[in-house]
Parts: sequence; structure tokens; C-alpha cells
Amino acid sequence: MLGVCYYPEHWPRERWAEDARRMRELGLTYVRIGEFAWSCLEPEPGLFDWAWLDEAIETLGQAGLKVVLGTPTATPPKWLIDRHPEILAVDPMGRVRGFGSRRHYSFSSRVYREEARRIVTLLAQRYGQNPHVAGWQTDNEYGCHETTRSYGPEDLRAFRLWLQARYSQIEALNKAWGNVFWSMTYRSFGEIDLPHQTVTEANPAHWLEFYRFSSEQVASFNRMQVEILRAHSPGRFILHNFMGYTPDFDHFKLAQDLDIAGWDSYPLGFTDMDVLPCTAEEKLRYARTGHPDMAAFHHDLYRGVKPRWWVMEQQPGPVNWAHHNPSPAPGMVRLWTWEALAHGAEVVSYFRWRQFPQAQEQFHAGLNRPDFQPDVGFFEAQQVALELQKLGPLPPSSPAPVALVFDYEADWVYRIQPQGRAFVYRDLVWNFYKALRQLGLDVDFVPPGAGLEPYRLVVVPSLPMVSEAALEAFRNFPGPLVWGPRSGSKTEFLSIPPTLPPGPLQDLLPLKVTRVESLRPGLAEPVRWNGQDWPAGVWREWVESGLEPTARFADGRGAIFQHEQRHYLAFWPSQDFLQSYLGAIAHRQGLPTRPLAEGLRLRRRGDWVFAFNYSAQPQTAPAPQGARFVLGSPTLAPYNFCIWKEG
Ligand code: GAL
Repeated sequence: MLGVCYYPEHWPRERWAEDARRMRELGLTYVRIGEFAWSCLEPEPGLFDWAWLDEAIETLGQAGLKVVLGTPTATPPKWLIDRHPEILAVDPMGRVRGFGSRRHYSFSSRVYREEARRIVTLLAQRYGQNPHVAGWQTDNEYGCHETTRSYGPEDLRAFRLWLQARYSQIEALNKAWGNVFWSMTYRSFGEIDLPHQTVTEANPAHWLEFYRFSSEQVASFNRMQVEILRAHSPGRFILHNFMGYTPDFDHFKLAQDLDIAGWDSYPLGFTDMDVLPCTAEEKLRYARTGHPDMAAFHHDLYRGVKPRWWVMEQQPGPVNWAHHNPSPAPGMVRLWTWEALAHGAEVVSYFRWRQFPQAQEQFHAGLNRPDFQPDVGFFEAQQVALELQKLGPLPPSSPAPVALVFDYEADWVYRIQPQGRAFVYRDLVWNFYKALRQLGLDVDFVPPGAGLEPYRLVVVPSLPMVSEAALEAFRNFPGPLVWGPRSGSKTEFLSIPPTLPPGPLQDLLPLKVTRVESLRPGLAEPVRWNGQDWPAGVWREWVESGLEPTARFADGRGAIFQHEQRHYLAFWPSQDFLQSYLGAIAHRQGLPTRPLAEGLRLRRRGDWVFAFNYSAQPQTAPAPQGARFVLGSPTLAPYNFCIWKEG
């Protein structure tokens, strides 16, 4: 269940066999290679050097490792860019993004699609049937460094074609977007520009369509690679390594073409950089562990993206790219690995085998130091390998009791039209997630429209556009369902629904939102619920309904409405409020909840219960009396974990 990322091209050939032997000795099974190696494979246009990769794969395979081969399309070589500078992406300010790092291409570049097709085909033909190649990784971290959207001539051309295919008639587009406003009417698709350089904000419908288009460009670029790999490399899996929260393209859709969702887990860097926002106090407290929900959130998200999922890159020590790059607390590399396995990961693969003393990532730790000696992470990985060997196969994971409906388009909608600068979809989802995890509940992320049958509680932090399928899934779910603000507030083209929000949800919830307001920091209308005042800032709604509100704002307006098992929150709920509110619902549902001590988290995999201690203090795991421990004991040292059997 363990692997590593390795760059044979960085090291003398004489080292490879020794590296491979030590990987096996450490207990690793998978080794990912090749994803940035284009200029080594094709140093001159049409002139190939396969010998080194032949030998590397052979050496790794002979040692008993399974190779995951990356396609090198994240790094087109210099000669290719010089021949075809139109490959380069353009930023929203209109500046060309140059050569000299990585991901310097636009998904819409026609030449680049052809070049990518060419190199992937050659690789697939050469290694597709190689017995040591177990699977493929397409490209590397789509969207990293803000590369999903590009604003050059190639993008404009593709966008116009995309719009034409979607609307056929320009009148249909004008009507859908409401272009009668401000004289924005177009006479043909050829008149439409990209939405980035207008005087004041462009039409939000224009932006949303550009986001949708850009998302589909990533998916179709990936699909092109997948089709080639499937044709030439039967029986091998295909994955991509997604990133920490990067909602710029719809991962659910892209992953339909993959077998496995990989993702790259850097809990310290993510905490420092607010990949999911942390307070200054949390950043300090969890500087060496990462926020205790940071990795878990992503494990659960990517398990929702694809039931088979890997951690393709696991932080092994300090990284180089955050504002501050501390060393993980002793034991954290082991804890992170086990936590991923607890959440259902098939494989955890460390990034990277050895720290490379040159270029951009010279400060980035590996399992080994640049002087070829093992580094701290090496020994922690070794411990995991030994533990895994001792425990034998882990029980399969089963669905969590709680589903969180997550929607990439929701992120886009609130980015395009926040209406209040603190209304950030990511932050709202994070509040719901942390509240549920703090209650000790396991959470599955599901896309809108997914069947909700397996669940006992469903939360929808916000879903502005409710499709037929989503409505149907909600209607069929008999248990408690909680919607957050702005759910049902938009049509497909970003207008306010004719019957006002929550639009289609009015079938399930007899209410109408007649006004919304966003609130500056310090301006809050407390919500009185359960005998307590809960401060509610950021956002609130005015609701008309025949229903008697189950909670009110201080001015008497309704804040929470409930119809049968369906709840609507007409405000931005804080994590504290959600913990209390969702805790009460879970309790009524007979779901065992237990507010957890600081830094303690639980997760079940089959009948195993894991408790992780992210805090610097010893903790006691909430195992029942007489529980049978699979690993460790109820007394948890800092940065340690234990496993017991339920029932
Ligand atoms: C990832 C990337 C790797 C490496 C790593 C450093 O984003 O996929 O290539 O750059 O970060 O932490």
C-alpha cells in the first residue's frame, strides 16, 4: 500500500539499482516516474532517447517494484515552445506566461494538443505492454499555478466554438445571459470576447460560461490522453494526481475518465497557505502537524471523486513552497500515512525518494537526504511498512453515515458573484465539515444528483443551481436534509429563479427568499436557537413562508425553517452553531456523536476505529471499555494514533 515518487533522470545511473533495492527493502511497492521528463526523452524535435527510461523501468521492475509512468505533458520542452509560442498560456492581465518552470501551456492550444497526443502515443506504444508498468498518471496536477483558465487568442477561438455548439443561435445566448442589459447584445458568436478585460464587471453569465468551458477543456485534454493510453496499454490503471482544494475544474466530471483519483497531500503547506482557511492561532498550534481536518477533508473529497483513490504525493518533511516551511512533528509522517489509509486510500506514495540539491525544490525534503543518507521520513515510512505487514489486509471501507453534497459550480458561482466578500463557498463547506468531524462523525462527499440512500443525514452547505437529478435525489431521501443559504438561488445561466429562491427546492420547502444581505465584519444578527444566541455574520436572508420558523434573528425574522425532515438555514452558519445544530439532528437519528478533545479525530474503516492525536498533549481515545486494540492503546501520546475493533 506504499509507494514513492522518483526521478531517475536526476541521479547517476549507477545509483538506480541501489535505489530500487532500498525502496523494496523499505517495503514500497509502487514507484511513480517520468512526469516531467520530456526534454530527456526528446532532447531535439523528433530525436528520442528512450534508452535511459528503458533501463530505469527495467531496473525498478527487476527489483520488484511496480511502475506508475507519468505522461510528461506538464513540461513542454524549450524547443517546442520556441517553435510554437502560441502554446503558452496568457494570464488575465493579458501577459504571456513564459518558459522556465512548468505548466506553461494552454489547454486550448491546438498545436499543444497535437504535440501532447504525439508524445503520449509514443510513450504508450513503447511502454504500454511493459510488464513492470502497472499504471499511468496523466500529466501532473492540472490547474496548479492557476493554469486552468487562459486568456489568449487560442482560448478565445475555442471559447467561441464552444458557445456556438452550446447555443446554436446567438439570440439564444443573448436571451440566456440577459444581454439586453447595458446594450451587450451580440450579433454573432464571432463578436464575443473573453470576459476578463471589461471596464467594470463583465456579465456574470459570461464568466460562468467561461469557467464551464475552461473546466471542460481540462477534462477533454485529459480524455485525449486516456484514450491513447487505454488503446495501447490494456489492463493498466490510469490516474491523475489532483491537488489540495483547487476547484477551478470539475473533478467529478474529469474523473469519469480515470480509474483512480490520486491527490497530493501536504498538510503543513496547506495549513500555512490557507488552502482551507485557518486562524492565526490554528496556524501556530498546528504548524508542525497541519490542521487536524486538513488532510481528512481532502481524503473524503477525493474518495467522493472516485471510490478508488491514492495519495499520490505525501509530504515527507519540510516543503519549499509555503510562506513558512517547518519540519513536521516527530511521528507525523507515520500518522498522515495511516490517516489516509483509515479514510480508505488504496496506496500512499511519498514525494520524493531523495531531496534534489538543485533548482526550484532544493529545500524540499525527501525520504532520503541529498547525501544519500536516509532522512527522518524514511524511518517513519519504514515503521508504517512494518505495521502494515504485521496487521495484514485492512478491512474495506463502508459508506459514512453523513453525506456532504459538494458542487464545483457552486464554488464558481460565488467567486463570480460573491455579493459579500466573505461569502466563499470553500469556507462554508469547511465549516460544515469541521463541525461534523468535531462530533466524531465520518463524512462522504457526494456530487449533486448522487443517490443518497446509504446515508442517515445529508448536508448541503449551499447549492445555487439545483438540477433535476439533484432535486430527485433530495426528494427520495427520507432522512434529515439540511440546506445552507443561497441554495436554489440561481438558474443554470445565473439569473434569479422566477419564483425567487430557493427555486426548484420550493417543491420540498414551502418558502421564498425575498431579500438577501451581506454583512461586514462586526455587523451580525444573532440567531436565537435552543435557548442560546448564535452570532451570524457574513450573510442573511429575509424569508416569507407559511411555516413557523424554528429559530429567529434578534429582529424577529425567521432564521431557520423546517418542513418535515428538511431544514433551511437562512444565514451563514458558524462552525460552532453547526456543531450544535447538526449534533442535535444526529442525536435524534441515533447516530453516536462525541464532541472530541482538541486535536483528536476519529475515522472508521470497516469495523476498525482509528483515533488520531494531532495535539501536543497526550489524549485518551474514546474507545469503549474492554475494546480490542488492533494497534496502540487508548492512551495516545502526542502525534500518535491507535486502532480498535468496534462491536
Ligand atoms: C506538487 C507537485 C510536485 C512537487 C510537489 C512539491 O504540487 O506535483 O511535482 O512540486 O508539489 O511539494
